[in-house]
Amino acid sequence: MQIDVFSTVGEVRSEDLTQKTVIVIDVLRATSTIVSALANGSVAIHPMETVGQARAFAMEDTLLGGERFCKKIQGFDLGNSPLEYSPSVVAERRIVFTTTNGTRAIHKSLRGETILAGSFLNGNACANKALQLKKDVVIVCAGTKDHFALEDGLCAGYIIQRIRENAAQVTNVGDLGVAMYQAYLNVHGHLAETLLQCESGKRLSRIGYQDDVTYCSQVDLYTNVPVLRGHNPLELQND
Ligand code: MLT
Repeated sequence: MQIDVFSTVGEVRSEDLTQKTVIVIDVLRATSTIVSALANGSVAIHPMETVGQARAFAMEDTLLGGERFCKKIQGFDLGNSPLEYSPSVVAERRIVFTTTNGTRAIHKSLRGETILAGSFLNGNACANKALQLKKDVVIVCAGTKDHFALEDGLCAGYIIQRIRENAAQVTNVGDLGVAMYQAYLNVHGHLAETLLQCESGKRLSRIGYQDDVTYCSQVDLYTNVPVLRGHNPLELQND
């Protein structure tokens, strides 16, 4: 099994994804929020690229969630804080969701054979699902506006560690994946502090979302794996 990591979504070409399992990671905060919402009973998340598409698709019985500039969008029910997506709010609900980088990364990954949403919250489950699918793996770090985001790279490193430890077959990891794996090993004992020092962690803390950063640094809180299904609209559901 080959495992490759892309440091931002802008680096990925469609041919890199064909016949591969793609794991999209946006630790702060889109994929952490998606994992939490589905763990808390949401039946599906519809990832949309633009605010206009999200508004157009929203129906009476759906919740509208997401952010621009890390803040809740005017008229939306929910922002992009995973803590908002509690069981009492999201159970049995469909959520139309748009974020600056995370949902864009999902849309840019559509050429993959199977597309999973990964985060620290479900890293081990994601690794096991990728192993079960028996295809080469591409990990797409969403990044922030086409810049690398360390928290995504560290999460890629964690998922690589779990794949390597759980794999029966030989795994070959590309150079960036090896670097991220080593970086993860360096900081795994103080992940929350590390995430609070990342650019995105500092930005979110400045505007009052420090608790989100700490929450998103929890490893394997959940065992659900959001898998992308459907076409029009796309939907993420638990495997
Ligand atoms: C994104 O998808 O751009 C991020 O999740 C932004 C945020 O944390 O609000």
